[in-house]
Amino acid sequence: MPKIYPSILSADFGKLSEEIRNVEKSGADGIHVDVMDGHFVPNLTLGAPIVKCIRKDVKTVMDCHLMVSNPDERVEEFAKAGADIITVHIETCNHLQKTLKSIRDLGCKAGVSLNPHTPFEGIKWVLDELDMVLCMTVNPGFGGQSLIPAALEKTAQLNSWLKEVGKRDQISIQIDGGVNAKTAPLAAKAGVDILVAGSAVFNQKDYKAAMDALR
Ligand code: DX5
Ligand code: ZN
Repeated sequence: MPKIYPSILSADFGKLSEEIRNVEKSGADGIHVDVMDGHFVPNLTLGAPIVKCIRKDVKTVMDCHLMVSNPDERVEEFAKAGADIITVHIETCNHLQKTLKSIRDLGCKAGVSLNPHTPFEGIKWVLDELDMVLCMTVNPGFGGQSLIPAALEKTAQLNSWLKEVGKRDQISIQIDGGVNAKTAPLAAKAGVDILVAGSAVFNQKDYKAAMDALR
């Protein structure tokens, strides 16, 4: 059964601590933090100072998804702010192996994210530096979009390929975007380990019922 990491992008930013406590009490397996720079993606959200403030509230896993053009300049501050996982976009990294190694050297798990149109073959030569692949199932930038079926098909192929090359046990697969009660079973079938869900959790009144509907 996939784990569920609610994305606080759809939470009430005016009471983040309370939102995090509630969603964890309701069974969240991790907290997904969307960091957007208004450049790599057309939206601005939050930075490391906020991550540092909410660190005390997160008892599960602090999962930071960096949608920024210059991740190399940012990973250290997110590690220091208390991230457990730091995910960078492959589209933003000229020296991916180095970036992933630096994330691990800072004591975090290293993730790589792929936009819906980005082939997964680009990770082939960094598999030893990698803990997680995040397959975007929408174009990043906003919550509440519809899942792109081809991106899920790619995720299923990634799952088979990681098995073929003997790396499936070391590398987990996460999807992000358009996860709801209809698409979650398709994701489980595609072999996804971690579902990120924003609006399908935080736009509901009952967070436990919302997450149960995804399981
Ligand atoms: C999109 C973000 C997602 C977003 C998902 O760019 O990376 O984490 O919160 O939102 P939903 O689940 O509403 O599609
Ligand atoms: Zn995200």
